[in-house]
Amino acid sequence: MSIRLGFFDSGLGGLTVLRRVLESHGGVPTIYLGDTARVPYGSRSPSEIRAIASEVVAWLRDQQVTTVVMACNTTNALARDVTEGQAGVPVVGLIGAAAAMVRDSRVGVLATPATVASGAYRESIEALHPGTLVVQQACPDFVPLIEAGDLGCDALRSAAIHYLQPLLEASVQSIVLGCTHYPLLLPLLSNLLPESIRLIDPALGVASQLDALLGKPVPGGLDQPLALEATRICVTSDPQGFADRSTPWLGQRPKVEQIALQSSVEAL
Ligand code: DGL
Repeated sequence: MSIRLGFFDSGLGGLTVLRRVLESHGGVPTIYLGDTARVPYGSRSPSEIRAIASEVVAWLRDQQVTTVVMACNTTNALARDVTEGQAGVPVVGLIGAAAAMVRDSRVGVLATPATVASGAYRESIEALHPGTLVVQQACPDFVPLIEAGDLGCDALRSAAIHYLQPLLEASVQSIVLGCTHYPLLLPLLSNLLPESIRLIDPALGVASQLDALLGKPVPGGLDQPLALEATRICVTSDPQGFADRSTPWLGQRPKVEQIALQSSVEAL
């Protein structure tokens, strides 16, 4: 069977993972599902997150994907087992990839409230690097503000200052972007942090995990326009708005389809 990667997230965030993968492995057939009708996931209960993961992954399975890429940390933290059970194909996730990228002894993690409450990042980093100080910070305002589309707004800047404060006070040496929406804030975060603090984007770890399946990364991939010809992007609401908001990140306006899920969990 030919390769087809299935990505999913609550909205725009997973595109940060899609982009890293396409930069390294341009043109690989992919399908992306953004569950925009139910964003944000990170303020939901574990049982809702698990029910949603089951529906979303069943849809991807029906599209005959050959590997599922969990482009969402929140489902990775709370529903990895559900995803693996439902997918019936190999599943690639973010949290283990991020833990493998940790090099420092004092590490901050920015993530959604549900991911922080699960403790998944702390456990994963401590298991791989015993003795590491892990300071987690929940960022409930980030995803709704990012999805609203104005990445330069004052509310995002104030929220970022507030969320970074405890990590700076703990003198962390690196910060994991533990939600796939947060790489969209890289310019803002870099501006607010000293240069010595390394930002870790787990998507880069996911892209290199896929090397085993897809072969060596394409040389010069980063300089090329993103190859979206073999990518199908689907959302559960507002396809035109999603196409608009994803244009700056993808460097082109994608074609976006609306799909319906057999939904048991409603919008917040
Ligand atoms: N981008 C997702 C994550 O990595 C979900 C964010 C949300 O919907 O709250 O956690």
